[in-house]
Amino acid sequence: MAENQLRVPADQDLLVFGATGDLARRKLLPALYELSLQGLLPRKGEILGTATKEQGDHGFREFARQAVQEFARSGFREREFAEFAKRLRYVTTTHDQSGTGEKLSKALQLPHRLVYLAVPPSAFTTILEELRRANLARGSSLIIEKPFGHDLKSAIALNQALHRVLPEERIYRIDHYLGKETVQNLLVFRFGNTLIERIWNRDVVDRVQLTVAEDIGIETRGRLYEETGALRDIVQNHMLQLLALTCMSPPSSFDPEALRDEKVKVLHSIRPVDPSEVVRGQYTRGSVHGELMPGYREMEGVSQDSTTETYVAMRVSVDSWEWAGVPFYLRCGKALCTRRTEIVLYCRDVPVHLFRGTDIGHLTANRVTIRIQPDEGISFSVLAKEPGPTVIEQPVRLDFSYGQSFKTQPAEAYERLLHDAFLGDHTLFIRQDETEAAWTALEPVLEHMPRVNFYPAGSEGPEAANSLLLSGSWHDLSHHIETGPRLSDV
Ligand code: BG6
Repeated sequence: MAENQLRVPADQDLLVFGATGDLARRKLLPALYELSLQGLLPRKGEILGTATKEQGDHGFREFARQAVQEFARSGFREREFAEFAKRLRYVTTTHDQSGTGEKLSKALQLPHRLVYLAVPPSAFTTILEELRRANLARGSSLIIEKPFGHDLKSAIALNQALHRVLPEERIYRIDHYLGKETVQNLLVFRFGNTLIERIWNRDVVDRVQLTVAEDIGIETRGRLYEETGALRDIVQNHMLQLLALTCMSPPSSFDPEALRDEKVKVLHSIRPVDPSEVVRGQYTRGSVHGELMPGYREMEGVSQDSTTETYVAMRVSVDSWEWAGVPFYLRCGKALCTRRTEIVLYCRDVPVHLFRGTDIGHLTANRVTIRIQPDEGISFSVLAKEPGPTVIEQPVRLDFSYGQSFKTQPAEAYERLLHDAFLGDHTLFIRQDETEAAWTALEPVLEHMPRVNFYPAGSEGPEAANSLLLSGSWHDLSHHIETGPRLSDV
């Protein structure tokens, strides 16, 4: 992967379905612009946008200009944008895609292309069929966005539909979490450090908590979210991928398939989740960072008696030699008190307390915290003696922070992923068997969804989530993580 970073991809076009949508505006166009600034787009190749909106190349370029002005991480530069905009072209398509294939075929210049389906999954099959009919599948590779199905059955059907048109080697399933620097660093942290790999198993680790907390609500996505919910939106993909990267054994090489083989082994080792070990929640009206947030059921597109979950917590077992017996606690939610994605490994306690029988209490066991976002970094919580005449143990933090160590802003996940797909590198994309294994683990819950508990927006989620823990408590969301020695960490 590393050597990819400066490689210029072979000549090819990029064809984007859903080119006037939210994903294109917020993520794809800004990421493509950043790649253009770095000289990492193919030397020759157009970006052909298509959607039902009636407009020409000029209209699309204006749309892209606004997208870049609003969302490009390194800011808008007129001359550089003009250079990038030369690649942008647009073709209007019909709702039922009739005749689309011919139109696109005429507009595309090169024999090879990357096709990006930035459209709702309900549109996939028609588009795939149109690509096949117009003989455009030949020479194409395909990027698709989650959700990869709605459950195991629909995921299998989707994979079959994809494979009727393209082989697996030309399909890129995006989970943008894999494009995050901090997520990729999990591999380097684990497999590049003897110190770490030695402690990374059931002998030392007592339990693990994974959290994806968001402080935003569902915003304008009410209608879509009603059919999704947190389990399908976050757990099935982002969280199970984080779990797989946390638990996987070292791959035999850095070959994409070797890595994905190891991830899929973990996903297969997850014991199908017992619905009684799952807590679902939905946010009600509350206040987030001092601002009033309406409840989920008050949002446009949401039914007034909706039971869709905006929060889910669960206990998961990984039946592998390395992890058997270690509970993994997963939780994610919208409208919580903070935005934070983290993995916390709690170590077992020392076998004998040195100061047993004295007044000096033993405070806490070691802990490794991987901060995926924000405040990206990794810290160890260890005990130290507080200076002074008596022995007082204090938890202190050994810390690595990306900002401080590298003094650079990480690239956006979509930049990395688009560049890799242009290069034909599958490492950071999800393979067919991974999606199916992840759905299999969640099947019992999807079949018997536990009832929904309510929690006020701005809180840490429903109280009922505490009942899942066999020991300890959930890592506190309301404080900034471990800002130094703190007795409250005890
Ligand atoms: C998306 C989900 O995949 O990830 C959204 O559909 C969620 O609901 C988003 O808000 C979170 O991404 P990030 O990168 O902000 O953690």
